Amino acid sequence: RVVDADGNVLVPGIIDGHIHNREPGLEYKEDWESATRAAAAGGVTTVVGMPNTDPVIDRPDHLELKFERGEASAHVDFQSYAVVTSENIEQIPAIDEAGALGFKIFLGSTVGDVPPPNDGEVLEAMERIGETGKRLGFHEENGEIIDHYTERFQAEGRNEPIDHSHSRPVIAEQEAVERMITFAAETDAKIHMFHVSSGSAAEAVARGKARGVDVTAETCPHYLWFTEEVMREKGNVARVQPPIRDADEQARLWNALEEGAIDTIATDHAPHTPAEKKVDDPFGNTWDAISGFVGLETEVPAMLTFVDEGRFTLEEWVRRHSTRPAQVWGMYPQKGSLQVGTDADFTIVDPDREWMLEDRDTLHSKNCVTPFEGESFTGKAVTTIVRGEVVYEDGDVVGESGYGMRVDVDNS
Ligand code: NCD
Ligand code: ZN
Ligand code: ZN
Repeated sequence: RVVDADGNVLVPGIIDGHIHNREPGLEYKEDWESATRAAAAGGVTTVVGMPNTDPVIDRPDHLELKFERGEASAHVDFQSYAVVTSENIEQIPAIDEAGALGFKIFLGSTVGDVPPPNDGEVLEAMERIGETGKRLGFHEENGEIIDHYTERFQAEGRNEPIDHSHSRPVIAEQEAVERMITFAAETDAKIHMFHVSSGSAAEAVARGKARGVDVTAETCPHYLWFTEEVMREKGNVARVQPPIRDADEQARLWNALEEGAIDTIATDHAPHTPAEKKVDDPFGNTWDAISGFVGLETEVPAMLTFVDEGRFTLEEWVRRHSTRPAQVWGMYPQKGSLQVGTDADFTIVDPDREWMLEDRDTLHSKNCVTPFEGESFTGKAVTTIVRGEVVYEDGDVVGESGYGMRVDVDNS
C-alpha cells in the first residue's frame, strides 16, 4: 500500500462482483453508462452485471449484446454472469465460449421473471459448468418456503414491509445454501453464494468449506450496516432480497466474516424508480413494492467506516473487495493486484474523509433510492484509475463513456 502526503491510500482497484446494470432492456432503471459512472464515482474499477435483464442473459447472443452495449458506453471495466434456467442447460458450453465470467441460478423468484430450475436440473447444471472450469453462483433462497409464508402473511393481513424478514425467513436462505453445498460435494462444482444476509447462512458456508467443498460467499454492506429495525425507520426504501436481518443474525454474520466464511464484499446495486420503491408510501401495506437499491457510491465509504471503527484492517478490506473477488471469478492477477508501473487499476481513498449522503440525487445512477441516504461515513474514494487512466477525480467523473472494456477471462 502507498500513502501520499495528504494521507490518501492507494489500493488495488475495487471490484464489485454483483451489480444490476439493467442493460439490455431495463434502461429506464439504469444502463451501462450510468451504472459505470456511479462505479467510477464510488472508486470501483470493475463491475460484474447480473443476468436478470430483458432479454435475460441465457444465450450466447444475449451475452454478446450485453457486452456490445457495455463496450459502447462503460466508464470502467466490466463483465457479466449468464443465467441457467430449465431451458438452457445444453447451451452452457456455448455461453462459456462466448466469454461469460461465470454462471448464476436464481433459486426461488426474485426481481425479474427467471423461473428457478428444479433440483435435478441444478445438479446437471453443476456437472456441465464444472467442465467449463467456471463458477456457479446462486440467489440462494428457497422459493417454496418464501411463497408459503408470503401467502400466509397476506391472508393474515400482516404489514409485510415491516415483517419483510419473516416472509422471507432465514431458514429459506440457510436451507438453500446447505442444499447447494450438498450438490456441489456430489458434483465437484465450484459454487458461490451471492448476497449472504444472515449468520445462519454464513455458518452453513463455513461448514461447507470445512468439508472441502469449493464454496465461496459474498455479503453486502447493507447486511453489515443495518439491522431489520431499518424497516421500521425507512420502510420500503430498505426492502431487499434477501432481507436485512435482526441483530443476532447480523452479529453472527460479522463473526463468520471475521473467521473467513465470507470471501467477498459486493453491493447488489439494484436500481429501481422511486415509484417502484413506493418512496411516497414507505410504510404502506404494499406487498408489491420492489426489492433492491443502489450501492456503488456508498460501498467504499461503508467499508472504510468499518475500518475506521476497527472492525477490520485496511488490508482485510482490500482483500475482500478486490483481491478475493478477482480470484473467485478468475480475473486475478489481471484485476485485484497492485502492479505499480503497469496498466493496472487503482483506487485512491481518503480514509479520514467525513461524509454524509444528504441527498440521494447527488449520486450518479439513473435512480438513486437507497437506505444509505442520511447515513454518515468516515472515508471516501477520491480518485479512480482504470488501466492507468484517471476516470474519476475530486468529485468529477472525468473518463470517457466507452473507455471501459470487457474483462477477458482465460477460456482454456
Ligand atoms: C435484485 C434486483 O432488483 O434485480 N433485487 C434485490 O432485492 N436484491 C434481485 C436480486 O439480487 O435478487
Ligand atoms: Zn439475488
Ligand atoms: Zn442482485
